[in-house]
Amino acid sequence: MASSKSQCLGLGVFVILFSQVFSHTLAQAEATNPAEVEYSDKLILRGFTFYGFHGYAEEERKLGQKFLVDIDAWVDLKPAGKSGNTSDAVDYLKIYKVAKEVLEGPAFNILEHVVEKIATTVLTNHKKISAVRVKVVEPNVAIQDPIKYIGVEILRRRSDLLE
Ligand SMILES: *[C@@H]1O[C@H](CO)[C@@H](O)[C@H](O)[C@H]1NC(C)=O
Repeated sequence: MASSKSQCLGLGVFVILFSQVFSHTLAQAEATNPAEVEYSDKLILRGFTFYGFHGYAEEERKLGQKFLVDIDAWVDLKPAGKSGNTSDAVDYLKIYKVAKEVLEGPAFNILEHVVEKIATTVLTNHKKISAVRVKVVEPNVAIQDPIKYIGVEILRRRSDLLE
């Protein structure tokens, strides 16, 4: 009885410790992203769907495939929030158009190149944006087993433009 009680206690302590360590790890992951420390405000663009011909496999080049794009753009939303003036806001449509032009434009061999191009263009075009996260995935990969998607995701800060 005593031993099962202490086992219960032990498990409880473990769960508390685990959840603390886990949330600490999450907080750390957030904190290691300077863009989020500087500005937690961001624009969120999710689930754009484009048809493109990127990839190095012959079928990809010939037949093309569907690509899904998610973008986060870190920008201080306070000026626009306070003024309510569109001239203080970053135009979502312009970010969408960059993604569309790259995805539907000339074919790249690898997705790494696709996301880098989008991130660099968005940062170059919009001085207010301090960092951008771009994720591009292929939901219809030619693999025998079921798969939701494969893809890449990058985070680029304004300082990365100098490299
Ligand atoms: C929005 O800002 C621009 C530029 O500062 C200004 O010319 C315009 O009058 C403002 N519009 C409104 C509705 O406040």
